[in-house]
Amino acid sequence: MEAKTPKESRTIMTDMVLPGETNPINNLFGGELLARMDRAAGISARRHSRRIVVTASVNHVAFNRAIPLGSVVTVDAKVSRAFKSSMEIYIDVWIEDRESGIKDKANEAIYTFVAVDETGRPVRVPN
Ligand SMILES: CC(C)(COP(=O)(O)OP(=O)(O)OC[C@H]1O[C@@H](n2cnc3c(N)ncnc32)[C@H](O)[C@@H]1OP(=O)(O)O)[C@@H](O)C(=O)NCCC(=O)NCCS
Repeated sequence: MEAKTPKESRTIMTDMVLPGETNPINNLFGGELLARMDRAAGISARRHSRRIVVTASVNHVAFNRAIPLGSVVTVDAKVSRAFKSSMEIYIDVWIEDRESGIKDKANEAIYTFVAVDETGRPVRVPN
């Protein structure tokens, strides 16, 4: 199977933080951020493997910085390592300053996805 580079799986998703997605102190709800990262990571794993992929684990998440209501949030995911059927996806989360447009890192995470066939059985991926 032909090897692939992280560039080929890179997935960048940008969206705003809306009122229904915040906690009582008007910062992005942690579960909402986990879901956004899961979506981007899933697309990245699919681009790498060109197979059906499922989330196997969330290995490392650091909520280093609160993300306020109204923020423009960018989730940047890429496959950083691939094994037999599993893929490690490295994710950076950035928030963009409204006036300068400068992006600051807010969070990072590592997810593991597994490529499966139509019956849910693990299948090999490029590495
Ligand atoms: C992930 C899943 C496909 C693994 O299936 P399995 O029958 O346990 O497969 P195996 O034990 O043969 O492992 C297959 C691969 O998955 C990896 N894996 C299994 N469980 C894992 C876990 N918890 N974390 C990280 N990797 C895991 C193995 O290391 C292996 O990797 P490799 O092929 O690259 O060496 C299966 O557990 C599953 O379908 N889980 C539910 C996924 C899901 O529904 N996700 C959404 C959550 S709501």
